[in-house]
Amino acid sequence: MQVLHVIGSPKGDASASTRVAGAFLDQYCRENPEDSVTTLDVWTADLPEYDGELAAAKLAPLIGEPLTPAQVAAWDRVLGVIETFANHSKIVISTPMWNFALPYKLKHYIDLLVQPGVTFGLNDEFEHVGLLEDRPVQLILTRSSAFADESPDDFQLRYLIHILGFMGLHDVNSLVFEGTTLPSAEREEFLDRCCEQSRLAAADF
Ligand SMILES: Cc1cc2nc3c(=O)[nH]c(=O)nc-3n(C[C@H](O)[C@H](O)[C@H](O)COP(=O)(O)O)c2cc1C
Repeated sequence: MQVLHVIGSPKGDASASTRVAGAFLDQYCRENPEDSVTTLDVWTADLPEYDGELAAAKLAPLIGEPLTPAQVAAWDRVLGVIETFANHSKIVISTPMWNFALPYKLKHYIDLLVQPGVTFGLNDEFEHVGLLEDRPVQLILTRSSAFADESPDDFQLRYLIHILGFMGLHDVNSLVFEGTTLPSAEREEFLDRCCEQSRLAAADF
């Protein structure tokens, strides 16, 4: 198995979500030594900008327009991003909540993945269908505040489940850690507990 770890926090070693995901993946690798993990940090990855060429390239086939050379070049880069994602048999996404939703770089990455005819399409009834083969996805999410289950204010977990399902990924599990903004001594203890909980969950991935 090849596991892709998508890192949504820009904070490096100081990141709660990356640290907890690290504990999850360390344990996973101990239990599955033949598997490999690739890391994709959306803050340092060379992702194509979602500029006008790309926006036009996305919609051109839907209105029967040919792509210009610039649009073809932009589209090829997007296909490369999707190929890397699709070539991994398991996905881990770790991210903080930002303003009830996702950090914009992670949203950027998702915008690149969600493409008509590649990761989603329409069936004969003109309903959307996901085109990615389903595979296990583990979400590891952190945030300062606490949200009730299925809270309409939570655009982090709800959005990720929605957009992954839109592309055909329904085998999604989540570990959500709330109340992460703490004085440093308390934070260490808290994060140790989160890491422990993550390690236990790795057995089910
Ligand atoms: C720009 C920004 C926006 C944030 N917005 C929210 C928010 O809407 N709700 C919340 O509960 N926490 C919010 N937080 C707090 C983070 O989600 C929280 O500190 C998280 O644990 C950070 O994870 P990280 O250390 O992996 O980056 C925000 C933090 C930042 C930097």
